[in-house]
Amino acid sequence: MNPSPMILVGARKVFFETFGCQMNVLDTELMIGALQVAGYEVTAHLDDADLIVYNTCSVRLQAENKVMSRLGQIRSLKAARPDLVIAVVGCMAQKDGAALKKSAPHVDLVVGPGEIDHLPSLVRRVESRSDESLVATEFKPVQFQRDVTLRPSRYQAYVSVIRGCDVYCTFCIVPYTRGREVSRRPEQITEEVRRLAEDGCREVTLLGQTVDHYGKEFRREGVHLGTLLESVSGIDGIERVRFVTSHPKYLSDDILRSVGDIEEVCEYLHMPVQSGSDRVLRSMRRRYDTGQYLERVARARELVPNVRIASDFIVGFPGETEEDFLKTADLMERVEFSQAFIFKYSPRPGTPAADMEDDVPLEEKKRRNQHLLKLQDRFQRKRNESMRGEVVEVLVEGVSRRDPAKWTGRTRGNEIVVFDRVEKNSSIEGSRVQLRIVDSTALTLFGEALS
Ligand code: SAH
Ligand code: F3S
Repeated sequence: MNPSPMILVGARKVFFETFGCQMNVLDTELMIGALQVAGYEVTAHLDDADLIVYNTCSVRLQAENKVMSRLGQIRSLKAARPDLVIAVVGCMAQKDGAALKKSAPHVDLVVGPGEIDHLPSLVRRVESRSDESLVATEFKPVQFQRDVTLRPSRYQAYVSVIRGCDVYCTFCIVPYTRGREVSRRPEQITEEVRRLAEDGCREVTLLGQTVDHYGKEFRREGVHLGTLLESVSGIDGIERVRFVTSHPKYLSDDILRSVGDIEEVCEYLHMPVQSGSDRVLRSMRRRYDTGQYLERVARARELVPNVRIASDFIVGFPGETEEDFLKTADLMERVEFSQAFIFKYSPRPGTPAADMEDDVPLEEKKRRNQHLLKLQDRFQRKRNESMRGEVVEVLVEGVSRRDPAKWTGRTRGNEIVVFDRVEKNSSIEGSRVQLRIVDSTALTLFGEALS
């Protein structure tokens, strides 16, 4: 019998760089899977790539600028090797489409998030007709037979449960780049998680822009995020389940009860508030006021003992006065968020807020940003300090990057804990261990393994 010709002599190589959110990280894994089937292997070097893919983000101008500068850097590569295929995929591709080709003519392929499953065939089309370049920005339900071996770590995986967004906050580009909200069928999700678990995955993070609105299409069947959390948690091998991002309006008591009751579901919510001023929230069209937000926080703390709540903030939204800003700072102090992601408002062309006057000067946005960062740092320091002596469970993620003599893991509340590597626990990666907290900084807890 002849051996099948599986030796990939001179396999084609693809270089990937990913910008933006976890959804993009997952989309990149899906694209890598599809390209591997098509005979590609991943390279970490631009120089030996036959295909370069930038998976882009449009949420703030800064993210787009980074991509444009990358494209500038590889212009000479393309000039030296005209066969090289350059693809811009993701949100910038969707938003700018053909215009992107104008500012970067050496780009061969522009592919929106709704068409990433066609990347291999699109690349083939460009390769076979070297004079052509393609722009693919239709919204289609992305259908991947996922290669479950591709994920951020052996023990963790992202799983997309709902794509797109229908909320249309006035500052946000996402509904325009990722399209309408569509939920995946629950059995399709559980089947994927089952395959991940069989391959050794222990923790899954369910992803969606408004993940707590999951299952709108299947409500009549009684499906909501809570029921999905329950079925995913019941899968053999799955020890931890997380979900991001929650919109305050949709985070119902039913969902909170599931988080509180199901052992595998971590006590962690990412529920962006954006602003502490009702006037600004209205202008952002966030669909809740601070009273409703605080009510959700109180309910979460009641139904989910020891819950950690993380949030996003935007400073310098059009018309945000000092008084509005101080209300945001006040809300931050009242809630005591476990983590805060703070952004300076960046006008996104095509969104309603882009028509409002961007009237907070950059210097002032920076000052407000710094102010919130300081408040958050102070709180995290205090909170971490108060955890001294506490026993926590971490899922061990690997060797600490800063100090190879230590392990790093994550608590159920998403805090990072670093602890000593000792001989006898040489293979504890991916397992859960009990640690006593002995020290901390604002960002990191230090623990000691309980034998
Ligand atoms: N629903 C998604 C939102 C994605 S954008 C989620 O909650 O993950 C992520 C964050 O980026 C938003 O919560 C918001 O705080 C910030 N953001 C979005 N558009 C922005 C803009 N135009 N300027 C500054 N920050 C923005
Ligand atoms: Fe963006 Fe608001 Fe949706 S922040 S992703 S429009 S919930």
